[in-house]
Amino acid sequence: DIKGFAFDLDGVIADTAKFHSQAWHNIADQIKVTWTPTLAASLKGVSRMDSLELILESVNRQADFSLAEKQALAEQKNNEYQLLIAKLTPNDILPGIQAFLDELRQHDYRLVLASASKNAPGILENLKVTEYFAAIVDPGLLKAGKPDPEIFEKAAQALHLPTNHVAGIEDSAAGIQSINAAGELSIGIGDLPEAQIQFDTTNEVSLAGIRAQLD
Ligand code: BG6
Ligand code: MG
Repeated sequence: DIKGFAFDLDGVIADTAKFHSQAWHNIADQIKVTWTPTLAASLKGVSRMDSLELILESVNRQADFSLAEKQALAEQKNNEYQLLIAKLTPNDILPGIQAFLDELRQHDYRLVLASASKNAPGILENLKVTEYFAAIVDPGLLKAGKPDPEIFEKAAQALHLPTNHVAGIEDSAAGIQSINAAGELSIGIGDLPEAQIQFDTTNEVSLAGIRAQLD
């Protein structure tokens, strides 16, 4: 049975997926890459540098930029993103998530953050939910990002639990693949057919809702 929950951040706890998209969209416009919904969806859950590679790959232009130019673009994206997240408050917690965090705490589940974002600790602080988490996986120490299972494996280790006692909760296809590959129970928010448990929006997430789909 499940004893711990590994949370994605952007698009699950915080309404920040739109800010990542907005900042990347501006970079894409600047380097004349057509921004499409498919491209936007493919970036969800993916690390900063991997996101830039996917943007360039979408038009076969990875080789047009030096490493230094790519680093400058990634830094520019992050500077814009940080302006957008500086104003986050507890009001930006996605609907139903505060109640779900409280429900999990009440029932003694252990929580860990499994976000690819290096901005995650600051966002948790702004949302005032840091204290709910026993651990935060450091994405800077990963050999491979989502969809590789490493981040969700490290999340289980941080809780001292085998992966089959952990549920991962995600809004991205890359993240669900990572959870499944780690051998954890996958909970998807949105249209994610690969998720074992599915909710349309964060508002529907609850222990009862999860149990109902497990039976
Ligand atoms: C993930 C987001 O949580 O973090 C991605 O879904 C983002 O869109 C990734 O690229 C890395 O975030 P950051 O803040 O380190 O650039
Ligand atoms: Mg996400």
